[in-house]
Amino acid sequence: MTASADSSSVSSPPLAAVVVLAAGQGTRMKSVLPKVLHEVLGRSLVEHVLHAVAPLSAANTVVVVGHGRELVLERLGATFPSAVTATQEQQNGTGHAVAIALSALPNVNSGSVLVLAGDTPLLTTHDLSALVNEQSSASAAVLSALVADATGYGRIVRNAAGELESIVEHKDATEAQLAINEVNSGVYVFDIAKLRSALGRVGTNNSQGEQYLTDVIEILRADGDIVRASVTHEDNILGVNDRRQLATAGAILRKRIVDAWMLSGVTMVDPDTVWIDPTVTLEPDAYLLQNVTLTGTTSVAAGAMIGPDTSLHDTGVESGASVVRTTAIGAHIGVKATVGPYTYLRPGTVLGPKAKAGGFVEIKAAVLGEGAKVPHLSYVGDATIGEGTNIGAATIFVNYDGVAKHKTTIGKHVRIGSDTMLVAPINVGDGAYTAAGSVITEDVPAGSMAVGRARQRNILDWVLRRRPGSDSAKAAVADSQ
Ligand code: UD1
Ligand code: CA
Repeated sequence: MTASADSSSVSSPPLAAVVVLAAGQGTRMKSVLPKVLHEVLGRSLVEHVLHAVAPLSAANTVVVVGHGRELVLERLGATFPSAVTATQEQQNGTGHAVAIALSALPNVNSGSVLVLAGDTPLLTTHDLSALVNEQSSASAAVLSALVADATGYGRIVRNAAGELESIVEHKDATEAQLAINEVNSGVYVFDIAKLRSALGRVGTNNSQGEQYLTDVIEILRADGDIVRASVTHEDNILGVNDRRQLATAGAILRKRIVDAWMLSGVTMVDPDTVWIDPTVTLEPDAYLLQNVTLTGTTSVAAGAMIGPDTSLHDTGVESGASVVRTTAIGAHIGVKATVGPYTYLRPGTVLGPKAKAGGFVEIKAAVLGEGAKVPHLSYVGDATIGEGTNIGAATIFVNYDGVAKHKTTIGKHVRIGSDTMLVAPINVGDGAYTAAGSVITEDVPAGSMAVGRARQRNILDWVLRRRPGSDSAKAAVADSQ
């Protein structure tokens, strides 16, 4: 599920086309990145829009690109390969942009077209579907909202009967029109033939010298057509023009997502500190503590406890696992496994059922069998560790010789002593032990004890001879009396 796109709520007639306007530079973002590629919750603004639109199953999707065209094409090619792009070399206005999109659809002459901007990531599928229904008995329908601060928006001008008459841009509005707090969201559904006809008649006689798409409304009204405006919540239409609005959009989307998960049965101790990408899946009875960020394809099963202070990316957590103060990327955490605190799991980490990755442990590309434990202060890389094996504190899997990575294989029920260096490639057989502090450079047969360290030698009275009169020497003398 995602908070913005829920195909089960769609019951509107099919669309002939969707047009997404995304050619503008987004000057106020002050960025080298085109505005629509800025991200909230793991998706770019334009991808949020396309996800909200997707359940409407339009026959054609055209994205109008201009500024940063190559970057937008690259991104959409990867995530929405079915979208067609049309290039608007010069940004002569929203009307001009739509005309360019329609010229990319020369054979689509009947049906409805949804037009919207690529910088409005909070649009909901529900609102879009309702607007499509609204237009099915009219030539056009506009999504509007009543806002506290209408600055910058086009104003919805209605007649005495409450019918939509025209949309007037902020810069062209009269004093009386500026007082209107119902604004144009920039989302419209048109009969495509009516739109083509009206666009051909849009001029540039306005304060910006641009072809305004909004002028189409007045033209259709003059033709005697029915045009409707339907109102939605202010949050849903938020357009991102600067980084403050980017953060605001992220905050609203974040709240929508955590609210939806709580209603579906996920416990959150402090939901205001939880960030969940729309691509994440959670089961009912997952339990999230404070400061948790779940991104990418992360999934959390029932009864798993995550947090506090944990970030999981592309990580699967199975039921009953506990993951405390951990950063994990591309890991899989098995049933009832325990992780943390202060643990770093990197791609290819697979913890079997009831396995443990304890405090200050880093693991990469390693598979731990059922009940295998790495409890303290260790690095495990490129390894297989059998079931029931215990890795002593401060063990290092020495996997890198400066040129290549090598693999370590450890059998079942092995006891690796504390502070062991396992110099890969190495195999440790089932049930073997290693002595604490060993540097293991040769394979250890099953059931053996490997000792790889210098034998201890005590130089008696060295302190009394070489550090006479020191606190250490005094302590030693006192001890011997
Ligand atoms: C537009 C509407 C305004 C509405 C507001 C909602 C017009 C004339 N005005 O104003 O009524 O309240 O959106 O946010 O349509 N774009 C192009 N090519 C262009 C111009 C714009 O692709 O030549 C794209 C932009 O990249 C953007 C979208 O169209 O994604 C809207 O353009 P913008 O300039 O932001 O329009 P507003 O002035 O906000
Ligand atoms: Ca805008």
